[in-house]
Amino acid sequence: MPAPTLLYSSAGFSYDDIMNENNHSESVIIAEGLVKRYSKDVLAVDGVDIVIPANIVYALLGPNGAGKTTMISMLTTLIEPTAGSARVKGFDVVRRADEVRKRIGVTFQEMILDEELTGRQVLDFHGRLYGQPKAKRRAKIAELLALVELEDAADRRCATYSGGMKRRLELARGLMTEPEVLFLDEPTLGLDPQNRVSIWEYVRNLKADLGLSLLFTTHYMEEAEQMADRVGIIDHGRIVVEGSPRALVDQMGEDTIRILGRGDSRAFVETLQALPFVETVVEGESVIQLGVDSGSKRLAEVVTLANTDGFTIDDISVAKPSLGDVFLKYTGRQLRDK
Ligand SMILES: Nc1ncnc2c1ncn2[C@@H]1O[C@H](COP(=O)(O)OP(=O)(O)OP(=O)(O)O)[C@@H](O)[C@H]1O
Ligand SMILES: [Mg+2]
Repeated sequence: MPAPTLLYSSAGFSYDDIMNENNHSESVIIAEGLVKRYSKDVLAVDGVDIVIPANIVYALLGPNGAGKTTMISMLTTLIEPTAGSARVKGFDVVRRADEVRKRIGVTFQEMILDEELTGRQVLDFHGRLYGQPKAKRRAKIAELLALVELEDAADRRCATYSGGMKRRLELARGLMTEPEVLFLDEPTLGLDPQNRVSIWEYVRNLKADLGLSLLFTTHYMEEAEQMADRVGIIDHGRIVVEGSPRALVDQMGEDTIRILGRGDSRAFVETLQALPFVETVVEGESVIQLGVDSGSKRLAEVVTLANTDGFTIDDISVAKPSLGDVFLKYTGRQLRDK
């Protein structure tokens, strides 16, 4: 298996520092060769190594079926790995699952709410499950209901909640036990922008005030870009590239030129590769993408060259590179931002 490309910028530590020092005491989540095979045909996670230091927000970004939920399920002890191992806060997720559970909070993409209970009851039961005393539960519930803006609906049955309300309740539940490590599977899916902002604000505060570490999965590129200290891009159960969002995007060049067109692209691509101002050329299924020093300045030249090389351009545009472009570079496919 090829090692994933690792790019770190100014984070103050390198991947090698972390991997080579046998001292992982600062690492909150460590996965080594993690594999999950659901059946003969379904290899959901295919040998993932991850080291996540304390007090870091880590995003697992990937398309549908990439293995994100499966990763979270293994790290939160819900399913056992087929091979490899993982530790959370130093505890093995299989052998010391109880110790892991004490220290984590998790919210799932597929919610498991008892719809007959009210929002308040859901939170209260959860606190009781973890042995929180009544006064503590009451204070925590009030705080969290305010956070996710469910105060007015707190005493209605969950069955009457909208999808977004259920998701917010689910998030509140994950925070009920003041976890040291929080796992969020698609935390903002189905939320309106305002709710997304307030939830991330709260999470950021948790990280700052309590030194919380956080792993979340998302389809939203800009969410990973903005919220994460580090991003692991996952595809077909493998981390294809990992690093700080800044470092990942910086390698793509200053600007990205995207070209949609027809005809034999070989000569054109060769020409592009030889140009001094072109830093990267990525050819996807239907798109050619260039990392260049200055997009708007180079556009005309690129169009002229396409004509010379017998390639017909249907559409050409300049943009700042994004994590989607990084995904395209490493997989040859587009990661659509939903
Ligand atoms: N319980 C299961 N039994 C069998 N196959 C499963 C199971 N759960 C997931 N899979 C398969 O494993 C692969 C990875 O699924 P997973 O849910 O981890 O992906 P994901 O990245 O979370 O996708 P999404 O973005 O759609 O949530 C998929 O091919 C999926 O069909
Ligand atoms: Mg999922």
